[in-house]
Amino acid sequence: MTYNLKMVEEFEVNRSAEEVFDYIVDFSRIAEWDPTVTDSRKVSDGSVGQGTKFEVMYSLGLRNIPIYYTIDSYQAPNTAVLTGKAKSFTAIDSLTIEPTSSGAHVKWQADIVLNGTASLIAPLFKGHIRKMGSVSIESLRKALEDNEKSPTLSVIKKAADKAILPGLANFTKFGYQYARKSWKPVTRSIKGKHIVLTGATSGLGLASAFELAHRGASLTLVARNLQKAAQVVTKIKQRSGNDDIEVEIAELSEPSEVVRLANRLLNKSRPIDVLINNAGALLNPRQENHDGIETSFALLLLGPIILTEKLKPLLREAGTLDDPARIINVSSGGMYAKRISVSNIESVKGKYSGADAYARAKRGLVLAGEYWSKAWCNDNIVVQNMHPGWAKTPGVEVSLPDFNKKMQRTLRTPEQGADTIIWLACASEAVQKGGQFWLDREPHTTHLTNKTKENPENRIALFNSLKEYALRYDVEIELGDYTKGIG
Ligand SMILES: NC(=O)c1ccc[n+]([C@@H]2O[C@H](COP(=O)([O-])OP(=O)(O)OC[C@H]3O[C@@H](n4cnc5c(N)ncnc54)[C@H](OP(=O)(O)O)[C@@H]3O)[C@@H](O)[C@H]2O)c1
Repeated sequence: MTYNLKMVEEFEVNRSAEEVFDYIVDFSRIAEWDPTVTDSRKVSDGSVGQGTKFEVMYSLGLRNIPIYYTIDSYQAPNTAVLTGKAKSFTAIDSLTIEPTSSGAHVKWQADIVLNGTASLIAPLFKGHIRKMGSVSIESLRKALEDNEKSPTLSVIKKAADKAILPGLANFTKFGYQYARKSWKPVTRSIKGKHIVLTGATSGLGLASAFELAHRGASLTLVARNLQKAAQVVTKIKQRSGNDDIEVEIAELSEPSEVVRLANRLLNKSRPIDVLINNAGALLNPRQENHDGIETSFALLLLGPIILTEKLKPLLREAGTLDDPARIINVSSGGMYAKRISVSNIESVKGKYSGADAYARAKRGLVLAGEYWSKAWCNDNIVVQNMHPGWAKTPGVEVSLPDFNKKMQRTLRTPEQGADTIIWLACASEAVQKGGQFWLDREPHTTHLTNKTKENPENRIALFNSLKEYALRYDVEIELGDYTKGIG
């Protein structure tokens, strides 16, 4: 006993057939645009192509129905056939994408065969099913237009941030789950974009590397441990099918190694589309690097500043007015607790606290990001700061074991923590206004209280101090010209 239903939808879009094809056929992205889908993921290894499998969770009233899709035919960038199997039906989705003078024409045909009880009730609901199909395809068409406006920091959000408890609740996985309800699809392609990512061997960096590789980026992963990096790269290549991954080894708490890393990248002369300053750690007890510089400061502030400033020529080369290069500084909500302290930049005064040293360095990096955002906008470089909320990563497990234990039910997954890194690296609207502090794809305030606020002189003092440190390594950095950086 079966019932057959055929639906055909067609539309035109002002995007290349290649981009449209890649986006649509990757059913792991379907939850972004189809309002009837609650979750979708790729469940087979390798790049998206013939034989790739996806699990797609359709919502039917209060029930979620899993459908297991396989790509049965794949002729990029024009045709693909995916067969989806659920308990009560089979869906064969045939996609035809033709290039047109202004973009692409999309034809989506769904042949659904319902069985058992579903086949008996389907005739009653066929109008509704067709309507749902049309609504979904209209959402896809809109997503492919890719003309979303960047979210802004509203007065209400600012007040919510400052009301400490609701603000902190946003850091948890519940904050992520709430925020994602209003997210828009990200259809801009990053295929072949050169992304340099530090701290790619663990936690948020590793989650980012997996997703960026899946989306076809050309990755340079910066790691300190060659063996760990090699294992990670093997896994990423296997899962994503993306072989365009290089590794650079550098101990980022040693500025001399940061300089050597930057010089190697400069010698390769490959423009950099996205630089993600992610590597980090919260260190207890106080440590010093080989040059006698306190390690939190060296790793979390001086290192990314030297790296970013040295790599500016490669970022400038990649950026265009329409598609600027991007710098993403991974900071921390922990920075809310502290103001900068130039006189204690290496945490020598008083009792050392790793959390305080970390918070001050993370705030310093945000200030640098704000400076670069203004000073470098004419170089077609957009700089954003972000924090990931609280995510369960090896770093948190090691450095904050009590917190990790107490909060474990509320912590985000590394993927959830990394989501805004990915969004800032990929979304078209993420470059509309630089210099903001993001959590869950929304800008947030950088101060919860006036006590942490620095004045222009404090910023100049910090930047001048950083300039002096950088000069020890023969690196001239721009930070310090307050009038250029902060308006
Ligand atoms: N997880 C959170 O809840 C959270 C919250 C706020 C901010 N953050 C920030 O997010 C970023 C990622 O943290 P995570 O939680 O993913 O931590 P993680 O799991 O410890 O990963 C940190 C990464 O940075 C690398 N790294 C650490 N010290 C380094 C050094 N001296 N030189 C070179 N690489 C180094 C690590 O390399 P190895 O693999 O070799 O250790 C690893 O790849 C950090 O900047 C952290 O401050 C995280």
